[in-house]
Amino acid sequence: MTRDQGVALWNAARRLEKGDVIVEIGSHQGRSTIVLGSAARTVGATVIAVDPFVDGKLFGGTKLRPDWDRALQLLYIDGKHDYWTYTDDLKWSVHLPEGGEILVHDCFSSIGVTLGTIAKVLFGRRYVYVDRATSLARFRLAKPTAADRLRVLAQMPWFLRNVVIKVLLRLKLRPVARVLGHDSPYDPY
Ligand SMILES: C[S@@+](CC[C@H](N)C(=O)[O-])C[C@H]1O[C@@H](n2cnc3c(N)ncnc32)[C@H](O)[C@@H]1O
Repeated sequence: MTRDQGVALWNAARRLEKGDVIVEIGSHQGRSTIVLGSAARTVGATVIAVDPFVDGKLFGGTKLRPDWDRALQLLYIDGKHDYWTYTDDLKWSVHLPEGGEILVHDCFSSIGVTLGTIAKVLFGRRYVYVDRATSLARFRLAKPTAADRLRVLAQMPWFLRNVVIKVLLRLKLRPVARVLGHDSPYDPY
């Protein structure tokens, strides 16, 4: 998580009010949880951090969501990044109020998360893309206009660049990735 992404999480939590609830999907070692929790404490909101903590490269675990019946005011998704898990995680948004915010990490960088965003945001009727801090995208629960959909499409060149960089890194062509502005051994996020 970059500093800008931490700031975006912090600001989203600071927009909440006393008694509000944040649900975080995917806590891992707790970096985002700490940012959300620190900001939530200043406004009297609560973070509920969900993670099955299953070992293994691809993560994964059982679901909590089907039995969930509490309202929430902010949803942060950074769980398993395949299309099916991500689009399933988006279903937590049924508990958000109209206009509620959803933050998604690794959006327009992970292929699974981006395909899910194309299906549910670009071609869906429930989510409006607001902005992003590199791969930390912000959505709002609202009916999208044509202009909102176009702003999702406008992220596609950046997504394709990220896919190319991932391929270059796997081919051990880091100097070529550097030409594209990526000076790190890690995937872009
Ligand atoms: C990328 S890490 C999260 C990093 C964390 N947000 C941070 O900033 O430090 C992904 C986490 O999602 C968890 N995860 C996988 N499937 C999940 C699910 N169905 N629900 C919630 N968390 C899940 C994994 O166990 C893993 O710890």
